[in-house]
Amino acid sequence: MKEKIVELLKNSRGYISGEEISRQLNVSRTAVWKYINSIKEEGYEIESSSRKGYMLLNCPDILTPSEVVPLLRTKYIGREMLHFDSIDSTNLAARARAQEGCKEGLVVTAEEQTAGKGRLGRRWTSPKSSSITFSVVLRPAIKPSEASGITLVMGMAVCRAIKRFTTGEAGIKWPNDIILNRKKICGILTEMSGEIDAVNFIIVGAGINVNAGEFPGEIKDIATSMLIETGKITSRKEILASILKEFEKLYDSFKERGLSSMIDEYKSLSVTLGNQVKVLSSVDSFEGKAVDITDDGLLVVRLENGAERKVISGDVSVRGVNGYI
Ligand code: BTN
Repeated sequence: MKEKIVELLKNSRGYISGEEISRQLNVSRTAVWKYINSIKEEGYEIESSSRKGYMLLNCPDILTPSEVVPLLRTKYIGREMLHFDSIDSTNLAARARAQEGCKEGLVVTAEEQTAGKGRLGRRWTSPKSSSITFSVVLRPAIKPSEASGITLVMGMAVCRAIKRFTTGEAGIKWPNDIILNRKKICGILTEMSGEIDAVNFIIVGAGINVNAGEFPGEIKDIATSMLIETGKITSRKEILASILKEFEKLYDSFKERGLSSMIDEYKSLSVTLGNQVKVLSSVDSFEGKAVDITDDGLLVVRLENGAERKVISGDVSVRGVNGYI
């Protein structure tokens, strides 16, 4: 109902009376008044006049469908959206909707996550309403072994969008950290539900630090935000709309032509290639120079003895990035 009232306020030039809202939406005047108060609490500036009704003066930078959908330039990604003021994790909420059979392209956003999930079982935290936290439900007809490519696709989409909003040096630390001026600005978590030979659905979630002014001591040296790097508040809803547009374009080519069709752009955005790296995999750890990324997205590391190892997943530190000296 709140979404519908916001739409009416947006579509009416000037004032719209409480009576008109109550008539169009078939709710009581008292209910309209209560909804208006709750909409104001979300950050909408609304002028109320006992004679004329309500007039919308300003919309907040929140990631609700009312604010994001009008900015979308996509066919199916984000055309259905679900927004939470506070939720445990948007990846978990998206997974629940996927299990109930929602369509491909559903986007779940939140102002705050109370149990945000990071890679390798870590936690992902961000202050309320200063970052973008979202997850997308995907149902691609690909093999489970190709699913990790989605992480690279989202990484490229975020990187393209961030470049549009800043002049800073944005790049991707393999496989999926977005780096701005050598510090992490975004993390991506891809989760899959499937069987040995078939993907049921994939959830890809991203957390982007946009308007956080500072980070706590332990991550201060490795994390950054758009605000810290540009000195300006950036519109979260516009960045999200831009990411979703880039993501849909890249995801469509990924489904039609595979990761190899975009690997050259991925490599050109990489802050890992050509640098000394430390790899911590689930079985061992080693160091070497990152010399290539294969057409299926694996990182090729040349060891000191000249042998090459392909990395499928793991924790990779890159010299000169994110505090690794
Ligand atoms: C990482 O770098 O460790 C990945 C972090 C991924 C965080 C995002 S925020 C939105 C989505 N929901 C989650 O619970 N996690 C991802």
